[in-house]
Amino acid sequence: MKILVVGGGGREHAIVKGLKKNPQAEEIYVLPGNAGMEDDAVCVNIGAKDIPAIVEFALEKKIDYAVVAPDDPLVLGAVDALEAKGISCFGPRANAAIIEGSKVFAKDLMKKCGIPTARYATFSDMASALAYVETAPVPTVVKADGLALGKGVIIAQTREEAREAVRTMMEDKVFGKSGERIVIEEFLTGPEVSVLAFTDGKTVKPMISSMDHKRALDGDQGPNTGGMGTVAPNPYYTPAVAERCMKEIFLPTVHAMNAEGRTFRGCLYFGLMITPEGPKVIEYNCRFGDPETQVVLPLLESDLLTVMLSTTHGRLAETEVKFSDKCACCVILASKGYPKHYEKGFPLDIPESTAPHVYVAGAARKDGRLVTNGGRVLGVTALGDTLPEAIEGAYALADTIHFENAFCRRDIGARALKAGR
Ligand code: AMP
Ligand code: GLY
Repeated sequence: MKILVVGGGGREHAIVKGLKKNPQAEEIYVLPGNAGMEDDAVCVNIGAKDIPAIVEFALEKKIDYAVVAPDDPLVLGAVDALEAKGISCFGPRANAAIIEGSKVFAKDLMKKCGIPTARYATFSDMASALAYVETAPVPTVVKADGLALGKGVIIAQTREEAREAVRTMMEDKVFGKSGERIVIEEFLTGPEVSVLAFTDGKTVKPMISSMDHKRALDGDQGPNTGGMGTVAPNPYYTPAVAERCMKEIFLPTVHAMNAEGRTFRGCLYFGLMITPEGPKVIEYNCRFGDPETQVVLPLLESDLLTVMLSTTHGRLAETEVKFSDKCACCVILASKGYPKHYEKGFPLDIPESTAPHVYVAGAARKDGRLVTNGGRVLGVTALGDTLPEAIEGAYALADTIHFENAFCRRDIGARALKAGR
């Protein structure tokens, strides 16, 4: 089978490594991938958003199956375009990817179906949004409707900050069209849990839960990033919480999408907050999370390709999706200064014994050498019988990798250990 993976980061590297375990996956291409994945797949320099070029490549190589991993191509209709040419895909069509592509859509869907989420109001004109801010309790959360590279959420501690956030989005248009409509919502509290789930539109099979660490520095300080590390399972996701989520959130969401004529097939990501009133949805993503995937897929005992194909073809109910009862920890190595200013091009050495545990996010080849080529350079994942073992293992692996200006958080998993479970 010839497989194409659209995307280029650590998540895609984890997907490639998962797919490769199945001997049926004879050829795997990644568009664009990065130089750090070259041992695992053929990287082709086509951008993940260049849908016509992706389709052309897929036809030329006679691709049998395509996995579209990032949000942008999904929202832009990469799956629709590939399917129109007869190429079967893992991932939702554009009409279902809107669950991530528009926060207004997602919030209205939840309201309509009684799915627990923060109370909210939506606005498309600035004057009404500003008037609303004067009455809203603080802290208050202001969100741009569309995709904004993970930066479209502002937690305003004061009314002034909320006014500023509204103006940034609607007047200065820092997120372009994504901020033409906004959501202003209630500030929720509680531990956050990520749950990725396979769904074929009929059945939902949640993967093992995980916890992201979004801030750049130890102790959850510093600016928000694309994610500095993850652990799985998430101790706050108890069996009782899981049962409530399935009944109150997962199944109702999938049924609601069907009722809208927007059947979701692929990986649906539930960003949850376990509030004092119970689990509530903070966000939906229409795809695997990054770096959640780098802890979730290494714990998957079932064959990834089989599970993906059964998701695509509506056979998920009869397909086993089994996870190990081990724990996993992924530590991200970044370039100093990330997520703000950082340099690239530092030679990158990954020892051979560490390489199987590494998911490269940003690397390039220069004069034949692997060099860093991004803020987040790579993630390294260890499994363990217990969470402390997994954490220790991940740091031991991280310490075998060297590049100039490398930094990582030293407390990945500490919050999970505090749960005391
Ligand atoms: P999002 O881009 O929707 O994942 O939001 C980014 C982060 O903002 C989340 O991971 C939460 O930590 C935080 N956040 C979003 N919405 C809320 C909310 N209603 N209450 C509290 N925190 C929130
Ligand atoms: N780790 C959060 C995300 O993938 O959006």
